[in-house]
Amino acid sequence: MKPVKVVLYGVGPIGSGIISLLSRKPWAKVVGAIDTDEEKAGKDLGEVAGLGHDIGVLISSGAREVLEKASPDVVVHATSSYLPNIHAQILDCVNAKADVVSTSEELSYPYRKYPELAGKIDERAKAQGVTVLGTGVNPGFVMDALAVAMSGVCQTVESVAAERIVDTSKRRWQLQRKTGAGLSVEEFQRLVKEGKIKHVGLPESTMMIGAALGWNLGDVQEEITPVIAEQRIQTSYVDVAKGSVAGVRQVARGLTAGRERVILNLMMYVGAKDPRDSIRIEGVPPIDLTIRGGVQGDQATAAIVVNSIPNVVAANPGLKTMIDLPIVHATE
Ligand SMILES: NC(=O)c1ccc[n+]([C@@H]2O[C@H](COP(=O)([O-])OP(=O)(O)OC[C@H]3O[C@@H](n4cnc5c(N)ncnc54)[C@H](OP(=O)(O)O)[C@@H]3O)[C@@H](O)[C@H]2O)c1
Repeated sequence: MKPVKVVLYGVGPIGSGIISLLSRKPWAKVVGAIDTDEEKAGKDLGEVAGLGHDIGVLISSGAREVLEKASPDVVVHATSSYLPNIHAQILDCVNAKADVVSTSEELSYPYRKYPELAGKIDERAKAQGVTVLGTGVNPGFVMDALAVAMSGVCQTVESVAAERIVDTSKRRWQLQRKTGAGLSVEEFQRLVKEGKIKHVGLPESTMMIGAALGWNLGDVQEEITPVIAEQRIQTSYVDVAKGSVAGVRQVARGLTAGRERVILNLMMYVGAKDPRDSIRIEGVPPIDLTIRGGVQGDQATAAIVVNSIPNVVAANPGLKTMIDLPIVHATE
């Protein structure tokens, strides 16, 4: 079998993790890399992604040129979360006749928030004979596709609840900062208002579950509140005083006829007790699943992106979500 030719679009920490895993897969060949960061352009992808050796692929900021020259089968895309910011990047890849696997949270289920952009991507992908998928650990798996998969053993489902509790104290500084660790409650609330403290993707996960289970969910209700430190917590990056913010709690609810059908509860804070991922389904039979310790986000995102590639390559053309494709599994 000819190796799948892959271009990486976005050489940040996530793109680097993806390329580190992908470069160990015999079925894939990395043929190009795109990033607008001037510090990265012109450097070897292996060096920038931290592989410890060059791989003979230079990073370039000229997306269209790279896509034309490298002619990839698949673009792995990891530049940004918001669909209005990335849809032109996705269309460039589609126009180059490449399948796309993206970590953009809003692309994981874009039909409710951006029906027009979703329609445009779907139409163009079908015209070009390629497939586009948004995925990742969350959205993309632990709070949506996993819950949908578990419902496969249920005769009836009344409601689905997913909970993800992440202890950020051993994670990157960026994640601790993004979740408000060390802030006062007032600062936290100001940043929430400015949209700077927010996990993107809970409404998308809620809608994905609703769509899979045939529930016509109305507006998804979302709330973001601080988790307050009950005692002083020190990490390598931040000293969190008792009474200040340890992190964030974000809840999304999807309702039909005033009844809660999907409830997603995401808590990310330093010193989180009993980190875990859990799925509870009220139905016949009921399901109560807990992954103790929780799934490590960055490793899992790299894995699910890489492991989705064979499914995406084999899929019919168009814009797909994780509930449209066969179960993703690990690959050698
Ligand atoms: N679905 C999930 O479960 C999941 C999990 C993890 C991450 N994500 C998402 O995946 C994305 C990537 O994560 P990250 O932590 O690696 O982000 P990041 O640190 O922002 O890195 C993104 C990289 O892409 C570059 N870039 C930005 N816009 C570009 C453009 N138009 N063309 C080419 N390169 C561009 C950035 O350059 P500059 O620094 O110069 O902007 C940066 O080098 C984020 O949106 C993140 O939220 C999703």
